[in-house]
Amino acid sequence: MHCTKKIKEDLFWVGANDRRLAMFEGVYSVAGGVSYNSYLLIDEKTVLFDTVDKAVQYRFLENVAFALGKRNLDYLVVQHMEPDHSAALIELIHRYPGIKIVCNAKTLAFIQQFFELNFNFDKDTIIVNNNDTLTTGRHTLHFIMAPMVHWPEVMVTYDSTDKILFSADAFGTFGALNGALYADEVDFEKDYLDEFRRYYANIVGKYGVQVQSLLQHVSSVAIEMICPLHGFVWRNNFTAIINKYMLWSSYQPEEKGVMIAYASVYGNTENAAEILACRLRNIGIKTTMFDVSVTPASEIIASAFRWSHLVFASTTYNAGIFISMEDLINDLVAHNIQNRTVAVIENGSWAATSGKLIREKLGKCDKITILEQTLSLKSSLKEGQLSEIEAIIQAISADFPNLALTTAQKETPASIDTNAMFRFSYGLFVLTAKDGGKDNGCIINTAIQVTASPLRISIAVNKANYTHDMILKTGIFNLSILAESAPFRIFQQFGFSSGKETDKFADCGYQDRAANGIRYVSEHTNCMIAAKVADSFDYGTHTIFVADVTQSIVLSNEPSVTYQYYFDNIKPKPQPPKENKKGFVCKICGYVHEADSLPDDFICPLCKHGAADFEPL
Ligand code: FEO
Repeated sequence: MHCTKKIKEDLFWVGANDRRLAMFEGVYSVAGGVSYNSYLLIDEKTVLFDTVDKAVQYRFLENVAFALGKRNLDYLVVQHMEPDHSAALIELIHRYPGIKIVCNAKTLAFIQQFFELNFNFDKDTIIVNNNDTLTTGRHTLHFIMAPMVHWPEVMVTYDSTDKILFSADAFGTFGALNGALYADEVDFEKDYLDEFRRYYANIVGKYGVQVQSLLQHVSSVAIEMICPLHGFVWRNNFTAIINKYMLWSSYQPEEKGVMIAYASVYGNTENAAEILACRLRNIGIKTTMFDVSVTPASEIIASAFRWSHLVFASTTYNAGIFISMEDLINDLVAHNIQNRTVAVIENGSWAATSGKLIREKLGKCDKITILEQTLSLKSSLKEGQLSEIEAIIQAISADFPNLALTTAQKETPASIDTNAMFRFSYGLFVLTAKDGGKDNGCIINTAIQVTASPLRISIAVNKANYTHDMILKTGIFNLSILAESAPFRIFQQFGFSSGKETDKFADCGYQDRAANGIRYVSEHTNCMIAAKVADSFDYGTHTIFVADVTQSIVLSNEPSVTYQYYFDNIKPKPQPPKENKKGFVCKICGYVHEADSLPDDFICPLCKHGAADFEPL
């Protein structure tokens, strides 16, 4: 039964998945399977982009037949002749006589090398060159040669009508499509990025220069979709994936950190590698580790493309590098690894040679810095050699310039100096509210504009304040911004007593109310802002109110008083304590609590600040 996906009204995915394949290309384990993508365009002419591997060709043929309906197949565009995309071509040309193959000259040679076909190539092949086009009705297809993005005959196709790039092997991912077709249908970063990188590094990683020239072309055209031959279709996030390809193809690391690959027969080389990793982590350097005898080389190669620093630790075996490590190093060299800093650790119970041989092999790569600092074990790591590990760490950490601060921060127990809070450039405000016939107000220091459109402010109010309860109940308030001329008595009037017991407006000479009916302070202030609560957030001791501004009046051009100005110029200086008087003074309002000790949960009865804001007399 067919299983296709509709991409657009006239474009279908007609590929198939293989979850039984143990080793892709006979080399790469694909535990998550693999998809072979093929796309069918139904225009005035019908066009199929590539076929699939022989393992899944019958599902593919069903898909093509279903998507075509009663139409014949006019063109097969062969972008890549590797048999995982071309094997079904044999059966396809049997089923659709009259089909024309669209390919380049190199591809045609490969078709004839791989297959013996009863096909009139002279008559039924359309040979295309770089930038040639084919119009199929509504769509115009542009063919762009992309040699060595994986094989020499590779080309990609750009559909300029719908701005779709059929990208052949580029932008492919290992892994079967498990119901999803688009990368944005899955958690790509978490579940597939590693496989995307592993596919790149191992399949086209060697051909960075050729990938760069394809990227140049890709960057010059508008793209709304990328359809690769393996893995997910991309319909957004193009910048992110192109940036990854930019990094990988220029052999720049994605992240700063250390990949440690080790080969250890009896665990002693592994032990040195573990100690190195632990100590690197202790100073804040990211690490990842692989036992090369266990982890497939393709995963380690992908990791080497990711990290900035590489450490290879290998025992000596048959007077050479340990087998799986030697394979890995050869593979890395073959994949053109560059721009990395490398450290080497060797082990040899009687004649250690692995370090020298690893250096020789990697020394042939471009722009590889091999650290002089090294560690040569004789069977196992000894206490006296920890300094050699430290020397490697020092050399690596020289490339991590922000580490000193990080290390110092990590090694110093976290401490909080509450005086730091006084360095904020707070203002001071009289916050007023009204509940029934009762007017009230308090002093606050946390009010800011949040947004301009809508015009919103936020305030944080201590729950111990009666004004807080009024705002919670009525949802409206006024804020009077205190000016530098504000005398200490205003702070006493609104800050040092509770409105539950007193009328804070009893002795004022002004009677001003905003349009919301709430009083405001019109003396020693420079403006009044009236607001209506839009949202509130409970933060334990305080509630944060976010409110829409409903009215505002500028009252004077005097500068606003800041917290610092209040302490320097308004708040009376503490008087010398009376002899033998024991107690604590509130640094905020000057209230004195006479006692031998101050409970941790003590709250200043005047200004409502906690015990942390008190100091001994
Ligand atoms: Fe899946 Fe180079 O091919």
